[in-house]
Amino acid sequence: MSNTKLFSPYTLGQLALRNRVIMAPMTRCRAHEHNALDELAATYYGQRATAGLIITEGTSPSPNGLGYARIPGVYSDQQIAGWKSVTKAVHEKGGKIFLQIMHTGRVSHEANLPEGAEVVAPTTKQVSGEMYTDSQGPLPHTTPRKMNEADIDQAIEEYVQGAKNAIAAGFDGVELHAANGYLMEQFLNPLVNDRNDEYGGSIENRCRFVLEVAERTAEAIGKDKVGIRISPYGTFNDMGAFDDVETQFVYLAEKLKETGLVYIHIVDHATMGTAPVPVEVKHKIREAFQGTIIISGGYDKERAEKDLEEGLGHLVAFGRPYVSNPDLVERMKKGAALTPPDFDTFYTPGEKGYTDYPTLEEEKVG
Ligand SMILES: Cc1cc2nc3c(=O)[nH]c(=O)nc-3n(C[C@H](O)[C@H](O)[C@H](O)COP(=O)(O)O)c2cc1C
Repeated sequence: MSNTKLFSPYTLGQLALRNRVIMAPMTRCRAHEHNALDELAATYYGQRATAGLIITEGTSPSPNGLGYARIPGVYSDQQIAGWKSVTKAVHEKGGKIFLQIMHTGRVSHEANLPEGAEVVAPTTKQVSGEMYTDSQGPLPHTTPRKMNEADIDQAIEEYVQGAKNAIAAGFDGVELHAANGYLMEQFLNPLVNDRNDEYGGSIENRCRFVLEVAERTAEAIGKDKVGIRISPYGTFNDMGAFDDVETQFVYLAEKLKETGLVYIHIVDHATMGTAPVPVEVKHKIREAFQGTIIISGGYDKERAEKDLEEGLGHLVAFGRPYVSNPDLVERMKKGAALTPPDFDTFYTPGEKGYTDYPTLEEEKVG
């Protein structure tokens, strides 16, 4: 047990992580009015503070990016105040926490947006399928308005300000969500991005938005405090592989190395039914970036240990196991059984399926 890599400390930029177990970002739809979180979220994240690093649920830097019902934002004073109670709860227990900044772009319905906000994307192409709304149930995604240059400048500003707000709220850093089909990946992917200006067309142009956000955010809060999540080959939200996918992500990783971001977090949702990211592509991204790599997707302790030993990444993110096992680190250390998650309460309001999963200690008492 003692010589396992997974439970050994790791230095991420300036930050001392007590182990290499990362809580993956997970949308839980528990925000209240005005897309702010409260003490319930502080309890939820505080319960999971023994992770080496928590990455929060996707959080919008703009009213336009709040595509799902009840997701949090990071642009208003009320939202920042809610996040302050979260970071305090985690830090009091010695944990570390990054905010995931997610602008949903066209993965959205206008019924989920606050008044005055609008669905914008690099394209007018609508996402197939439906989006759940609290007011009217599932509805076809709203057709986005294609962003012009001023919209792009505004969105970049919003990410930068969101990152500054995150630091003001006490976060140790931010993760830019460039995965899973949201705004940043809508720029990256040529199946979606049909622009013929400097933000579309070639690989360089398709990467421009992501790289500008990354550079500006790094300048604003410090490059050691900015990570990024990517999902090459991911198919979620009408994405999918394209001819030069490998070349594009290796180029992106090289550029992110120049910017000096603190990590790249690679999503592989093969265990959720999408195409796997080929191992050699993961290695190429790691070699091009040269910095910290977080691997994720379907991990248990054994597979995590094996992939760390083989050098596929430096840190391992766990998603669903963290929904239902607040003390995941302790359970894995002891080889204890994991509580299975209740899928029905992933996105429902309230404490059920959120803060009521027991620790090992509580199971014994109960
Ligand atoms: C309920 C739920 C919500 C999620 N929300 C997000 C999110 O907000 N941002 C993100 O990057 N990934 C999100 N994901 C994906 C997870 O971060 C992770 O990649 C995925 O669950 C696979 O890891 P796992 O097999 O350990 O669960 C979500 C996953 C689940 C189950």
